[in-house]
Amino acid sequence: MTAASAAQIRRLKAAVFLLACFPLLRLIFLGLSGGLGTNPIEFITHSTGTWTLVGLMLTLTVTPLRQLTGWHSLIRVRRMLGLFSFFYACLHFLTYVWLDQFFDFAAMIKDVYKRPFITVGFAAFLLLIPLAVTSSNNMIRRLGAKRWQMLHRLVYAIAILGVLHYAWLVKKDLTQPLIYAAVLTLLLGWRLVHRWR
Ligand code: HEM
Repeated sequence: MTAASAAQIRRLKAAVFLLACFPLLRLIFLGLSGGLGTNPIEFITHSTGTWTLVGLMLTLTVTPLRQLTGWHSLIRVRRMLGLFSFFYACLHFLTYVWLDQFFDFAAMIKDVYKRPFITVGFAAFLLLIPLAVTSSNNMIRRLGAKRWQMLHRLVYAIAILGVLHYAWLVKKDLTQPLIYAAVLTLLLGWRLVHRWR
């Protein structure tokens, strides 16, 4: 496939940016129009959690998609997808800290110890921070490509923890977490097979 022009890449980035803003704009719109249902905190927690996980899956889809289609310019939106996942993770965490726990840090520490799904989600969130902090070209140069790549392999563990977090919190129907688990198995399995080959 021929390389994309600068204008095509700009359009691709703009489209991804707008699409990634959509969940936030939807939440703002629903918030302003009273459309968040009877339990707005639960609605926001579920929406931001879902988009964090979807963002992580989309970020992990970039490499297999590039390899399958030969459309290497897709790499130009991977960082943006990763940063949007982090952004929604921050909103998700902030919803918990602010609206759910009212900044009661003692209660939160207890919660992290007591509820395994919170422990796992919290670990995933903490691990996302160094990836977001080192996402710039400047940080790639400072760390060196090899070390940077090693560090950013943490995203595999983060996605696994994210799916585990979801599976652990669901009380009855495991269908959704199992769908995410299947997609993640495909995405990570693809990488293993590609390496082995
Ligand atoms: C990468 C990190 C994380 C991911 C991918 C993630 C993802 C999710 C997902 C997909 C849901 C369920 C959405 C639904 O039911 O439709 C959820 C719910 C939830 N998450 Fe997270 N989460 C993360 C981190 C955290 C953190 C750090 C906390 C708090 C310390 C947290 C607290 C919660 C809570 C309280 C719920 C709702 C539980 C319930 O309904 O009973 N999550 N999260």
